[in-house]
Amino acid sequence: KFRGGLIVASNREPYAHRMTDQGLQLEFSVGGVVSALDTVLRVTGGTWVAWGSGSGDREGADAGGRLWVPPENPAYTLRRIWLSAAAVENYYHGFCNLVLWPLFHDETDRIVYAPPFWAEYEKTNRVFAEAILEECRADSTIWIHDYHLCLVPRMLRGVSPDRTIAHFWHIPWPERELFACAPHGEEILAGLLGNDLLGFQIPLYAGNFMACAAACLGAGIDYDAMTVAWEGRITRIRRLREKYRLPRRVGLAVDRLDYTKGIVQRLRALELFFRDNPDFRGKFSFIQVAVMTRNGEPYLRHRREVENRIARINAEFGTADWRPIIYFKNKLDQQDLVACYRMADVAVITPLRDGMNLVAKEYVASRGDGDGVLILGRQAGAAAELTESILVDPTDIEACAAAIHEALTLSSGEKKKRMTQLREQVQGNTVYSWVGDILDELSLLPVTKQGGK
Ligand code: UDP
Ligand code: G6P
Repeated sequence: KFRGGLIVASNREPYAHRMTDQGLQLEFSVGGVVSALDTVLRVTGGTWVAWGSGSGDREGADAGGRLWVPPENPAYTLRRIWLSAAAVENYYHGFCNLVLWPLFHDETDRIVYAPPFWAEYEKTNRVFAEAILEECRADSTIWIHDYHLCLVPRMLRGVSPDRTIAHFWHIPWPERELFACAPHGEEILAGLLGNDLLGFQIPLYAGNFMACAAACLGAGIDYDAMTVAWEGRITRIRRLREKYRLPRRVGLAVDRLDYTKGIVQRLRALELFFRDNPDFRGKFSFIQVAVMTRNGEPYLRHRREVENRIARINAEFGTADWRPIIYFKNKLDQQDLVACYRMADVAVITPLRDGMNLVAKEYVASRGDGDGVLILGRQAGAAAELTESILVDPTDIEACAAAIHEALTLSSGEKKKRMTQLREQVQGNTVYSWVGDILDELSLLPVTKQGGK
C-alpha cells in the first residue's frame, strides 16, 4: 500500500471509450505499460492520469474527466486529460513517436524532427503535471511512466520539493554518443533528474543514463550507490522489476474470504513450507484470491488475520524481486480465473468444511492440458468425487506443507495420470447432470408435490 495513495501517470490510458454503431463502448488498451500497470492498480487502487484518446472518452467520463475502472470490477480512478489536435500531432505522433522512440531504440535513421514538436511536448508535459497535482494529496506517491513524460518530474519538483516521485523507463536508454543526437537532450535529462527514483529494465540502460547525465549536465555520478547528484538533488537509479513477474512455479487458492475455507491454516502450511524448503524460495509463489462477500464481524476480523499473516510471511521470506504470497482481494471474472487455474502448478483447496467447493472442480475443468496438481481438503464435498487429488486434513499443518512439496515434485507422468482421472470424474458429473438428477427426482414426486395446478 502507498501512503497517501498512488498516482500513476502515463500517456496511454488503460481503458478508452469508443463511439460505435452500438453506442458508447469501453475497451481496454493494448501495450506493455498499460497491461502491467492495470494489474498493479487493480490491487493497490489509486488514480491513473492519462491522455483521453478514445473517440467517446468525454462522454464516458464525468465533467472532471474521471471514471472508475476496470469496468467489470472498478478498483481505481482513471483521470483523463484532454489534448488538442496540435498536441496529439506534435507531442505524441511527433516528438514521442518520430523522435524519442526511434532514437532510444537505436534507429536514428528513422528520426524525423520538426520545430513545433518540442513546444507541444513541453506544453503537454505541463498539462500532465497540473492534472497530477490536482489528483494528489501532499503525501501521495507519484509514479510516472516512460518517454512521453520526461519533463513532468522536474515540473512537479518545482512546485512541491518534498514529494515522492518515481519514474519508470520502459524502453532502452542508448549510449552517450547516440544520445548526443537527441534534440533537447539536456532538458530531457534535467526533467528526469526531478525524480527521487528512476527505474530501468536492465543495468546497461541505467549505466547509459548515468553516463549521459555526467557528460551532458556535468552531474555527479556514484556508480556504486547508483545515484546521480545534480543541482543539489540526488536521484537514485534502479533496475526495477517492470512487470509483475511470477517465478517459475505457482500455487493457487481461490476462496470467498470465509473462516470455513481454511485460509489461515493454509497460510500456516505455506509458512512452514517456505521455512523447511529454502530451495523453493524465489522459485515458487502462492496466489491467494480471497474475496469478501459478507460484511461486518466476524469477517472483518478474519480478513485482518489473513492479511497480517500474509504480510508476515512476505516480510520474513520475501526479497526485492520475489513475493512468497500474492494476495488478491478483488473478485476475478471467469476469464481471469481460468487463466489463473491454467497457470497454477498446484491448487490448494483446503476448506475446513464445504458443501461441495466448485473451485476445485473448476481447476480440474480448466486443465485441458492434463497438467496441474490438486490438493484437496478431505472435508470438502468435492473430495468424495475427486479421489485422485492429494487429499489432506486441512488442520494438519505439517501434512499440508508436505503435500505442497509432494505436488511440486511429482513426476509429470504421475501428474498426467491423476489429472486425467480427475477430469473424467468432473466430466461425468457436471452441473448439467446435477440439474438433470434433480429434475429426474422431481419428476418422480407425486403430482401434488410438484406444485402442479
Ligand atoms: N469466484 C469468482 N471470482 C473470484 C473468486 C471466486 O468468480 O475472484 C467464483 C469461483 O469461480 C466459484 C465461486 O466463486 O465459481 C465460488 O464457489 P465455491 O463453491 O468454491 O465457494 P462458495 O461460494 O461455496 O463459498
Ligand atoms: C511501448 C511503450 C508504452 C506504450 C506502448 C504502446 O510499450 O513503452 O509506453 O504505451 O508501447 O504504444 P502506444 O503509443 O500505442 O501507447
